[in-house]
Amino acid sequence: MKEQFASDNGAGICPAALRWLIEANGSGHEPGYGDDRWTQRASDMIRALFQTDCDVYFVFNGTAANSLALASLCQSYHSVICTPVAHVETDECGGPEFFSNGSKLLVTEADSAAGRLGKLTPDAIEQLVTKRSDIHYPKPKVVSITQATELGTVYSVEELRAIAAIAKRRHLRLHMDGARFANAVAYLGCHPSEITWRAGIDVLCFTGHKSLMGPSGIGGMYVREGVDVAPLKYGGTGVQSEHPERSIVIVDTDNEEASRQALAEALHVSEDAGW
Ligand SMILES: Cc1ncc(COP(=O)(O)O)c(C=O)c1O
Repeated sequence: MKEQFASDNGAGICPAALRWLIEANGSGHEPGYGDDRWTQRASDMIRALFQTDCDVYFVFNGTAANSLALASLCQSYHSVICTPVAHVETDECGGPEFFSNGSKLLVTEADSAAGRLGKLTPDAIEQLVTKRSDIHYPKPKVVSITQATELGTVYSVEELRAIAAIAKRRHLRLHMDGARFANAVAYLGCHPSEITWRAGIDVLCFTGHKSLMGPSGIGGMYVREGVDVAPLKYGGTGVQSEHPERSIVIVDTDNEEASRQALAEALHVSEDAGW
């Protein structure tokens, strides 16, 4: 199969991205956990591209970026407003609900002029926000839009600003699934910042292997300066991340007694604990 239009995930990596991967791979050892200079450089380039001091997180793919972003913005009793064709609703196997401990996706009307274009409108958002006010209703917390949409349409700058205005009025965060963000930028002929933070978007999720033409297995999100996202999990750097007050102990195999003592102190256990 030479080319197909079912999914851009099937395409290979573009030559420039491949060249940089090879260059990074051959450039020697680097610290892990995102502290390597290539990650820093890529994050800085994203900040430069968007002309803002945003936080950048690299994840496995666009699905992971969406799930983690929504889960970080919501508690279990919250809800996310989206269209019935939104990828988060139809194609992520309950990932956003799973990672947020059960936040609900509230979908707008499919059979409306905007619905048929795969778009949200301020009125549709307002309708879901005001539908109920009792404590049993999953409280809307986030609006999720896709740019370009799942139906290939594109929100104009004005449409985005109108959605951001209602989101602000109703104290909702605004998430953009930017799996095909580059297509929207090309179509609108605008600067990337104009349809993100300058228009009021709080979190942008993107895939490396779709419109950015990178290798499979790359996604990311950027979080607008000033937006708080709660960590979902701690860890990944061993006991240090769970108990930063504990020091790293270097075990000296020639001095077993001193090593046992140092370990016992670091782990706050008695040397007689029998470990
Ligand atoms: C609109 C939209 N969002 C998110 C994704 C998820 O992207 P990924 O394949 O990187 O998980 C897709 C994938 O097709 C998509 O079309």
